[in-house]
Amino acid sequence: MDDRMTTPWGELAPTRFPEDPRDRLRAWDASDEYLLRHLAETGVDLTGTVVVIGDRWGALVTALAAHRPTQITDSYLTREATRANLARSGVEPGAVELLTTQDAPPSRIDVLLVRVPRSLGLLEDQLLRVAPSVHAGTVVVGTGMVKEIHTSTLTLFERILGPTRTSLAEKKARLILTTPEPSREPVTNPWPYSYALPDGIGVVSGRTVVNHAGVFCADRLDVGTRFLLQHLPETKGARRVVDLGCGNGVVGTAVALADPEAEVLFVDESFQAVASAEATYRANGVPGHAEFRVGDGLAGVPAGSVDLVLNNPPFHSHQATTDATAWRMFTDAKRALRPGGELWVIGNRHLGYHLKLKRLFGNSRLMASDPKFVVLKAVKR
Ligand SMILES: C[S@@+](CC[C@H](N)C(=O)[O-])C[C@H]1O[C@@H](n2cnc3c(N)ncnc32)[C@H](O)[C@@H]1O
Repeated sequence: MDDRMTTPWGELAPTRFPEDPRDRLRAWDASDEYLLRHLAETGVDLTGTVVVIGDRWGALVTALAAHRPTQITDSYLTREATRANLARSGVEPGAVELLTTQDAPPSRIDVLLVRVPRSLGLLEDQLLRVAPSVHAGTVVVGTGMVKEIHTSTLTLFERILGPTRTSLAEKKARLILTTPEPSREPVTNPWPYSYALPDGIGVVSGRTVVNHAGVFCADRLDVGTRFLLQHLPETKGARRVVDLGCGNGVVGTAVALADPEAEVLFVDESFQAVASAEATYRANGVPGHAEFRVGDGLAGVPAGSVDLVLNNPPFHSHQATTDATAWRMFTDAKRALRPGGELWVIGNRHLGYHLKLKRLFGNSRLMASDPKFVVLKAVKR
């Protein structure tokens, strides 16, 4: 596999984060290359404020670094990859502004580049958040693989920013070309979205969940999460609990409600998720202590400091297979747990998490199961 990316601004060798030499997945694709080629060939003026949304691993802002772009991302992993890729390319610190989806976007945007995200909700929220900064002269170009661009994707550009067309496909990638119409009626942003939880799931029954755009299962309770909520371990006393990959924070909030003395740490690599978890926690007036952290797994959590880790591992993480992320999460949990501490995992039966837990912890116990899901417990010896 060629691990160099050819761009009109020179060759790059971007990598993903965390870097894994066994991981042969590239840190860019044909849609990134198509977008960059288009900017150079059509001579887009890049002297104003250039904003890049949805850059997967920082390849776009690294290629455009000379134009001092701003990156807006929901992902901690993307931001770390971007930092590493910029440094590897010798870009001076500060040349690229790194913002998260929770930050206010620049007040004026002259070039808006959008690598379409997997979540339509996140795209909607992002376009609505930048729309007030877009003016009639803003160049708006979206990009994605053909299979990622649907009619609903184009409708969002059209409804929020202005008339939209697509380019011809090249190497299975396509561009989205929008002519902004800032005079149109502003569209109301439906995010964040709150809903009431159903009955039959213990202490959180009927409680409110707050979801910022892009969060896992933002419009209803996930069936797997529901199963975990019905089989949570009883915790009593001042225990340190981690909701690992917290999403909207419903699992950690359930623990905090059941055990007001517990200290709950909510962690996710998505800025939108951690903001949602904090909003869910606050919306329920939970007594006790909680910490909300954006990060990669349990990095930074001292070894042997945690009593209980609760985890519903991601199925897809940045197009990588679920396996690698689940394995990293379980490994992290083992390091962070004190001897006797427990990791509880919910997963689809067919994922075979019990094998991973047995290999890592030397034990794995089935705590609950239905035809689709299993709840497993592994104890750190
Ligand atoms: C299947 S969702 C579970 C969300 C929530 N716990 C629930 O059950 O509804 C998995 C979560 O893991 C997060 N995640 C993926 N990779 C991560 C990583 N390296 N570190 C921390 N969180 C990660 C995702 O952003 C996502 O919110």
